[in-house]
Amino acid sequence: MNIINEIALVLSEATGLTTDLLKGFIEIPADSANGDYAFPCFKLAKELRKAPPVIAAEISEKIKRPDFISEIKVVGAYINFFTDKAFYAENVLKNIIENGGDYVLSEEGKGKTVVFDYSSPNIAKPFHIGHLRSTAIGNALYKIYSALGYKCVGINHLGDWGTQFGKLIVAYKKWGTKEAVEKDDIKELSRIYVKFHEEAEKDPTLEDEARAWLVKMQQGDEEALSLWKWFCDISMLEFNRIYNRLGVSFDSYAGESFYNDKMQAVVEQIRQKGLLKESNGAQIVDLEEYNMPPCLILRSDGGTLYPTRDISAAIYRKNTYDFDKCIYITALDQNLHFAQWFKVIELMGYDWAKELVHVPFGLVNLGKLGKLSTRHGNVILMEDILNTAVEKAKAIIEEKNPDLSGKNEISEMVGVGAVIFEDLYNSRIKNIEFDYEKMLSFDGETGPYAQYTHARACSVLRRANVDASFKNVDFSALTDEATIKVCKALSELPSKFSEAAAKNEPYIVTRQIIAICQAFNKFYNENNILGSEENTKNARLALTYCVKEAIKKGLETIGVGAPEEM
Ligand code: ARG
Repeated sequence: MNIINEIALVLSEATGLTTDLLKGFIEIPADSANGDYAFPCFKLAKELRKAPPVIAAEISEKIKRPDFISEIKVVGAYINFFTDKAFYAENVLKNIIENGGDYVLSEEGKGKTVVFDYSSPNIAKPFHIGHLRSTAIGNALYKIYSALGYKCVGINHLGDWGTQFGKLIVAYKKWGTKEAVEKDDIKELSRIYVKFHEEAEKDPTLEDEARAWLVKMQQGDEEALSLWKWFCDISMLEFNRIYNRLGVSFDSYAGESFYNDKMQAVVEQIRQKGLLKESNGAQIVDLEEYNMPPCLILRSDGGTLYPTRDISAAIYRKNTYDFDKCIYITALDQNLHFAQWFKVIELMGYDWAKELVHVPFGLVNLGKLGKLSTRHGNVILMEDILNTAVEKAKAIIEEKNPDLSGKNEISEMVGVGAVIFEDLYNSRIKNIEFDYEKMLSFDGETGPYAQYTHARACSVLRRANVDASFKNVDFSALTDEATIKVCKALSELPSKFSEAAAKNEPYIVTRQIIAICQAFNKFYNENNILGSEENTKNARLALTYCVKEAIKKGLETIGVGAPEEM
């Protein structure tokens, strides 16, 4: 049974208002001293034209207390409902026993389509930690929205066109070999790319050569295009290695080059709307009226730009997917870029401009590890970061549990999971201080802590050798404070999915996973599970099973693996 619906029904009988209206007002108090559910009467002050505390007192007098409610207390404007504890626990746990981790699913987004543009690294440049943030946040949002019933489309808007290719072709022809590129893929491509910049400082004619190759690419020159294609394939090898490790995939890999043959018509449309203006030979959309610098549409040589491709891509996506929302996940240094071209879409007369959402995130401070510049070559590669995290995880596991079987796979899940979890633990706009020791700690608010708690629950269930149907469990023993707190944390997880989607903030789910883990570990320390009397034991095992299911589902949703042993 849905307790909120039942309370709304009781309130409806007392007030004559509809359950639908009342349901939306019922809250779960942060402090359980204020009850398990609360009804804030100031929401009805307008409707009933009375002071909220008066309303609270009047309603509470009229309420017929149902059996599952043990007490109703009025505190100021609030009517607080205390559920019968064992009944409450049973109600929460039965739902999870029946549905497993899928108890979090809902139909909130049914019939709506959301497009996610995330990860989107640049070909022939290394996949760096900024791309990791975009990948982790985008993947988590994709899965959170999917759980809410939205139809999701994940797009990797690969940076596979632009000036860097002219430079790379020149660099390859001067200093590269096929063998070296095949052997070291992106590392070799970055090496020659860095070399290009060093050499071009001494000899600026290299820049002219690069531009000439870019023009050849644009004109469809066979040699230029086949090198370009080869660089793309080489880069995808590395990107896919990383995506496999992160467990991420996309519904579309239509990158920037995909829009090459679609941009002319879009530029024409912008022109016809009277939005295009010449400025120093380039074509721009003036945005002074909106307090922004102009949006660049065509370079003076006629070449298209990053915003031109984004505008074309948005129109294509609207036509192809008919999205209700299109979400772009990038670092906050692209705020202006998105604000500018979203405005251009609006000025073009598209009312769906309001469905475009930029979801920015803060920077990663790698501290002593180094900086993120590709041009100078001192970039930290994502693969190296993952490798280091996994090695460190392995050392910890080696120390804590040397006999564990499948150590390699588990270290991989723990190391990679630690990096992702840390990324998703705070409001995305906050900068991250990258710190291996902190993210790999087994008792902080970390991925390994959540994984460890999951493994602990699995281990209890393994030792008890239980049948997961939990058919005839008697829940009456589940009344202590620690147990009820676990149930409360479990019951809140589905609403955290909604909240996370509404704010595009995965941390809301990540933190609830930690809340469940903390509540469970407290329960675990205070209660004997396997050594208790049969009924109590079975009820506690049922709770342990529900915790395991919830943590697993939560971790899965944010893209972190849940090993059964560690
Ligand atoms: N390739 C860009 C970068 O690495 C990110 C692209 C984001 N998506 C977009 N539609 N602009 O900075």
